[in-house]
Amino acid sequence: MKDILILGIESSCDETAAAVVKNGREVLSNVISSQIEIHEKFGGVVPEIASRNHVEAISNVVKKALKEANVKLEDIDAISCTYGPGLVGALLVGVSYAKALAYASNKPLIGTNHIEGHIAANYITHKELKPPFLAFVISGGHTHMVHIKNYKEFEIIGKTRDDAIGEAFDKVARVIGLGYPGGPKIDKLSKEGKPNIQLPKTHFENLDFSFSGIKTAVINLNHKTPNLNKADLAASFQKAVTEVLIENALKACEKLNIKTIALAGGVSASSYIRKEFQKLEETKGMKIYYPEPILCTDNAAMIASAGYYNYINGITSTLDLNAVPNLKITNQN
Ligand code: KG4
Ligand code: ZN
Repeated sequence: MKDILILGIESSCDETAAAVVKNGREVLSNVISSQIEIHEKFGGVVPEIASRNHVEAISNVVKKALKEANVKLEDIDAISCTYGPGLVGALLVGVSYAKALAYASNKPLIGTNHIEGHIAANYITHKELKPPFLAFVISGGHTHMVHIKNYKEFEIIGKTRDDAIGEAFDKVARVIGLGYPGGPKIDKLSKEGKPNIQLPKTHFENLDFSFSGIKTAVINLNHKTPNLNKADLAASFQKAVTEVLIENALKACEKLNIKTIALAGGVSASSYIRKEFQKLEETKGMKIYYPEPILCTDNAAMIASAGYYNYINGITSTLDLNAVPNLKITNQN
């Protein structure tokens, strides 16, 4: 069978990225131009600044991705771009660029959901991974447990009712003075602390999550007790939120009669969360997957991979594709 090459383009938040992926799982190039340093000064992503930087970077990033893959635009079978969810101005840069490129080169265009991309990152790292499984998307914008029935059929079975987990990490980190992005900084500081502070955990009858209570508790504690050991506070926060993630994931797997969990999204780069989930292999006979760190945070290889599964299932977009900032994953209720 002929190889299928997909060019992926990602610009939903603060990384301008392009990648070439062969047959959905083999990365030929994965170029990421990060704006983290630019946004760090502001303590978070400034949407207008993000859009401007995408405009400046995108053309070179795409050229570099083709060059590093050692392919020409003519060799590409289709162009997959993130069209949501994300910041509208940021998304529009990638979508417009991909549309222009598709039009000029007469190649099919595929609008790809960013969340499906995060899940597909696991297909790249783990060649043996096949649906069905439970995908657990934990990122700056999402906390979604998704039943992956097959490559194109998904069902959300639990989600956050307020903050996404990454948002909670970022806010807590800012309050205790660690800066942006908070996840990796909390991950690092927690290694020096003990999880000895009691924090409230929210549970629901169904499989939903809430992180605003624990976030507020940490903020209040930090405010009222300035001498509190910050490393202990970070470690306690991390432990409490991870316990909630694991409790719900186990309930979901039991309900679906599934033994495989694939973590995805920026927060799945957390060494602590990975280690705690990994323990389920021994204690519960589960199989745990997570992408290699570079594929956990935003990148275009994952968008090319998810785009591949759209493409081979005959799902392409027309040139009037628009950015959809609050795009939902299929079957979301
Ligand atoms: O997936 P992502 O790059 O962007 C979104 O689609 O949201 O996720 C970004 C989130 C941020 O909240 C960041 O703090 C978190 O991922 N993150 C981490 C780690 N690396 C990034 N959280 C915990 N531990 C990490 N090592
Ligand atoms: Zn993301």
